[in-house]
Amino acid sequence: MEIPITEYLEQLVAANREDSGETAQYIPEFAQADPDRLAVAFATPDGRVYCAGDVETEFSIQSISKPFTYALAIIDHGLAHVLEHVDVEPSGDAFNEISLDPETGRPMNPMINAGAIAVHGLLTGADREARDERLLSFYSRLAGRRLEVDEKVHASELSEAHRNTAIAYMLKSLGKLEGDPVDVVHGYTRQCSVNVTVRDLARMAAALSAGGRAPDGTQVIDPGVNRHVLSVMATCGMYDSSGEWLTRVGIPAKSGVSGGLLGVLPGQGGIAAFSPRLDAHGNSVRGIRIFERMNQHMGLHLM
Ligand code: DON
Repeated sequence: MEIPITEYLEQLVAANREDSGETAQYIPEFAQADPDRLAVAFATPDGRVYCAGDVETEFSIQSISKPFTYALAIIDHGLAHVLEHVDVEPSGDAFNEISLDPETGRPMNPMINAGAIAVHGLLTGADREARDERLLSFYSRLAGRRLEVDEKVHASELSEAHRNTAIAYMLKSLGKLEGDPVDVVHGYTRQCSVNVTVRDLARMAAALSAGGRAPDGTQVIDPGVNRHVLSVMATCGMYDSSGEWLTRVGIPAKSGVSGGLLGVLPGQGGIAAFSPRLDAHGNSVRGIRIFERMNQHMGLHLM
């Protein structure tokens, strides 16, 4: 019997529309986002996608880019080299905190800004443009379609990138940043400004669920690297509420400040939600609620 997945997702969207939380305000472009948008999608490892709500709405990927860039840096350099620059310990701090190991100067993990900036600096490529293009085509292969950067969001991000630039210079002074700090922040904010829909995110999550195999069947991420990335997402993907998330929902996940949320069911598929109102940690309020409901209905929890 065919399970009516789309009807189920439509019911989820209809039943979880109550409002709370605020859209991110710290970047001018976010303050203008429509707070009432809501969408959810599920993708199978072979690329079938079921979705409901505002499924055509594009939004910037933001921090959901972090696990994918991390995967590419490990592909480029091997895990040992990447670990010399960024640790894999949950920080318990906010996403923009300067969480560095006091002894080594390494950022605590690659899912917070400090770690993600160090990771971006590791990407190989002849210059800024070449690195940006490599990253964009890597994300695009996982999403199964060509993705593009939202230039307005990127300009908006850059206009407010003072803290991220400070973090990059701090990392440089500690010997944990390869490349020029300004160049790296330019590229890091560009990776955050890639536009996606929930459908794209669900497919990217499904690729992680399939051991790094993209929807078209090509192996984009080595299975060992993929497992490492999923492990870090499980412990660090939801910032300073990662522990609460892992106990309540129990799957590897990553959130972004524009309201996206992606979760991975290893071997079974990827789930994505989008709703721009955020809680105090910077995670989507209705996105979290939708994952919690799905967990109640279907037992997503891996433990
Ligand atoms: O680094 C920043 O400020 C953003 N471009 C990305 C932050 C983000 O998505 C944090 N999420 N909750």
